[in-house]
Amino acid sequence: MLLLSACHTRKYHEPKDIYMPDMEYSRAYDPYTENPVFADNQSSRLPVTGTIARGVSLPYHIPQSDSGYAYSGTVQNPLHVDDSILKEGKRLFDIYCAICHGANLDGNGPLYKGGSGPFIAAPANFMAGATSALPAGTIFYVATYGLRNMGSYASQVNQHQRWMIVSYIKSVERDKGVSTPEKEDSTLHALEAAYLSTLKGGAAPAGSKTASK
Ligand code: HEC
Repeated sequence: MLLLSACHTRKYHEPKDIYMPDMEYSRAYDPYTENPVFADNQSSRLPVTGTIARGVSLPYHIPQSDSGYAYSGTVQNPLHVDDSILKEGKRLFDIYCAICHGANLDGNGPLYKGGSGPFIAAPANFMAGATSALPAGTIFYVATYGLRNMGSYASQVNQHQRWMIVSYIKSVERDKGVSTPEKEDSTLHALEAAYLSTLKGGAAPAGSKTASK
């Protein structure tokens, strides 16, 4: 008898044998369902305007604006750059940026291919010209918000990973003698430590004291 009753199909509209139907069937609106509470009838909502994700630095919530771009140049890399950061930065750059900017950072990746590739806009060359002297904060800003023909990479690489990519680009520029070293700011290291401690459960921050790989 027990086995037979377990097989009985539930009639959702006649929940006779359910102890607490409100718990069994949620009264909340499911995502992607119609929702008469909002004017646009949608249940999936965007975060409230001005929302800042935990652990994200404040200067960068001025997206895609001339003032945000100008300000970004004053923001320094908060990471204590070491070999493990550069190694991870290179790995991430090769995955996310090299397809356009080139594995040699010369702005000539396989998607552009000197103008004959499928991506028609010329990516920035980090090895020559004005874009080889971009401040670390500006590279971070562009990777976060995009610029003109380049889209944002904030959803693919998190804040810490973007700084690792920036560290890698600056280190190659330095090694090739096209850019001057960034000076380190000790107050930022305290900020970095605070930031890393909020990253619990996120991607393992390479180069931090807690990183295992
Ligand atoms: C799909 C191709 C593409 C990818 C992938 C790409 N970029 Fe770009 N990037 C561009 C193009 C095109 C420009 C030139 C934009 C313009 O000036 O219109 C550019 C410009 C830039 C600039 C120069 C901004 C300035 O101030 O002139 C930086 C910095 C930059 N990219 C960083 C990155 C980083 C970091 C990544 C990886 C996370 C990346 N890009 C991935 C296409 C790409």
